Amino acid sequence: MDGNGRWAQARGLARVEGHKAGAEAVRTVVTECRKLGIPHLTLYAFSSENWNRPKAEVSALFSLLLEFLGKEIPRMEREDIRLVVLGDVDGLPLPQRTALRHGMSRTAHCRSMTLNLALNYGGRAEIVRAARRMAEAGLAPGDYSEERFADYLYTAGQPDPDLLVRTSGEQRLSNYLLFQCAYSEFYFTPVAWPDFGVEALHEALRAFTGRSRRFGKTQEQIDAC
Ligand code: FPP
Repeated sequence: MDGNGRWAQARGLARVEGHKAGAEAVRTVVTECRKLGIPHLTLYAFSSENWNRPKAEVSALFSLLLEFLGKEIPRMEREDIRLVVLGDVDGLPLPQRTALRHGMSRTAHCRSMTLNLALNYGGRAEIVRAARRMAEAGLAPGDYSEERFADYLYTAGQPDPDLLVRTSGEQRLSNYLLFQCAYSEFYFTPVAWPDFGVEALHEALRAFTGRSRRFGKTQEQIDAC
C-alpha cells in the first residue's frame, strides 16, 4: 500500500494524513473485493523494516490500526470476512496484539472472504521460520516438499496469490510473500494507495484477466488442455 506519505506531502499535509486516507482506501478495497467475491485479499500494512521509520509515524500507524480494528471487526463478522495476520504478532505492541487476537478469534468461523493483514512481516523471516518449524516438528528430510513447506508458512491452507498489486510507481517485491508469489501476476500502477479506489481496483483486475498464465508450460500445451 505504497504512496501514503507522498500523497500527503503533495497536498502539503503531514505523512500521517496520508496513512489516514490510506486506511479509508483499505475499507473501500475490502468492501469491493467482498462484493466481487474475491476469496482472499492480503494487504501489506507494516513490514519488519518499517520499525526504522520515525517513532511518531510508527505510533500513528499503530493507532490507525487499532481504530480500524475497533470499527471493522464487527462489520467483518457480519459480512463473513475472516481476519488472519501474517507476521510476528508477538512483536507488536500489546493493545494491537490483543485487538488482533480478538479479531482473529471472532472471525475464525467466517468463510466468504479472508482478509490477511501482513503486519510485522518479512518474507525471508517467514521462510526461515517455516524451515525451523518443520525441523522442530521432527520431519525427516525425505518428507520435505514444496506443498509441505507451504503448510508451515503464515498462509498455510490458502492458495498462492494470483495477482500482486503495487501502487505508487514502485516496482519491487520488498520482501513480500517471497515463497507464495512464485507464479503471481504483477501489476504496477502509478496511483498512490489513498487514491486506489473502486475504479483503480477494477482496472487492475481487467489487466489481470488479460494476462496469459502459463506456469512454465508452452502456449501450445495450455491450448491442448
Ligand atoms: C506505505 O506508504 C504504507 C505503509 C507503510 C503503511 C500502510 C498503512 C495503512 C494504509 C494504514 C493502516 C493500516 C490498516 C490496515 C488500517 P509510504 O508511507 O511508504 O508512502 P511513501 O512511499 O509515499 O513514503
